[in-house]
Amino acid sequence: MSEFLKKNSLILELFGFLIAAIIFKSSYSILALLTMMVMFLFYSLFYTDPPKIRTFFMTAGFLLIIFNFTYDLSIFISAYVAVASLECLRMIIAAVMKYPSAIQDLKSLTEELEKRVEERTAELQEANQKLQIANDRLSELDKMKSAFVSQASHDLRTPLTAIKGSLDNLALGIAGELTEKQTRVLERARTSVNRLTSLINDVLDLSRIESGRTVLEKSNVSMRLIVEQAIQENKPAAEQRRIALNADDMPEEFIVFVDGGKMERIVGELIGNAIKYTPEGGDVSVRLFQENNQVVCCVKDSGIGMTEEDCQRIWERFYRSNASKHFAKGSGLGLSIAKELIDLHGGSIEAQSEEGKGTTLTLRLPLR
Ligand SMILES: Nc1ncnc2c1ncn2[C@@H]1O[C@H](COP(=O)(O)OP(=O)(O)OP(=O)(O)O)[C@@H](O)[C@H]1O
Ligand SMILES: [Mg+2]
Repeated sequence: MSEFLKKNSLILELFGFLIAAIIFKSSYSILALLTMMVMFLFYSLFYTDPPKIRTFFMTAGFLLIIFNFTYDLSIFISAYVAVASLECLRMIIAAVMKYPSAIQDLKSLTEELEKRVEERTAELQEANQKLQIANDRLSELDKMKSAFVSQASHDLRTPLTAIKGSLDNLALGIAGELTEKQTRVLERARTSVNRLTSLINDVLDLSRIESGRTVLEKSNVSMRLIVEQAIQENKPAAEQRRIALNADDMPEEFIVFVDGGKMERIVGELIGNAIKYTPEGGDVSVRLFQENNQVVCCVKDSGIGMTEEDCQRIWERFYRSNASKHFAKGSGLGLSIAKELIDLHGGSIEAQSEEGKGTTLTLRLPLR
């Protein structure tokens, strides 16, 4: 081994020299790289410096590292490091000098922001006040409108009752025998008066519900009885139009805690609609059953049906489907009253329908 070393000592010396040269050169390259990294860090921290100087330093560092592998640029790299150090120092001094004015800037920025927030808050408060005033005015107008509708309906009802009484008397022949033509004219007048009376009653009911004056006289009642009574009341109308009005077997009473009169009106409205919007010779069936803790009443008909949109909108006041307008007369208030009353009872009501095929209205109430 020692012989080998002695023989090749010159080559080994040269080889060592070469490695030392590379290490020496690359250590300068590493130095330049480290300087670039430190500068980069400084520029990131004090990023207010002009980008031109930054680009110059970064480009110079990069070129020095590249060319240092071909030429000996150790002196230039040393100079680069020195100048870069000075540049870092300059940045620190500039930052320190800028500090008080930066604080001042921050303070005035905060003040400006606070002022703007105050201004916006004042604007918002003003807008809010205006909105409140408009709101008060609107609810005042709404109350006036309800009071007017209620008063007008009341005032209309009294003469209407008198007209109805007189027409009934005429029909009974109290004022003498009527000819066939006179009877026909009188019947038309009586139908119109009845429609007007029921419209006025509906408007009065709605205004009572809207103003929260509706009082529910609740008691334990049999839902089966209510449904049976509603069916009995609607039997003549169904027979007149040759519509089969059927009820599925109702083995149980299904006791519910409701206002019996109002519930009968709701079920009556559903059955009445089913008959009204079903062509002659059709079917209307009523089902009463229990589902979970609810009693469910389904009124199904084979009538004109409704669109998807109609099913959503029939609960609105005065809404009527296009198909129904050509089919039968109505004011579009019955279901909105029924819905309000059902809501007051904590129940629900929904419609499913297919145009031209029929409709099912489903009423749900909590069981006692
Ligand atoms: N069984 C049904 N089949 C088809 N359409 C129906 C049915 N029930 C209700 N509708 C639609 O819903 C609308 C609203 O019904 P609602 O009972 O509120 O009013 P109406 O029957 O037209 O008039 P009224 O106020 O005299 O009851 C009806 O005009 C009709 O378009
Ligand atoms: Mg109706």
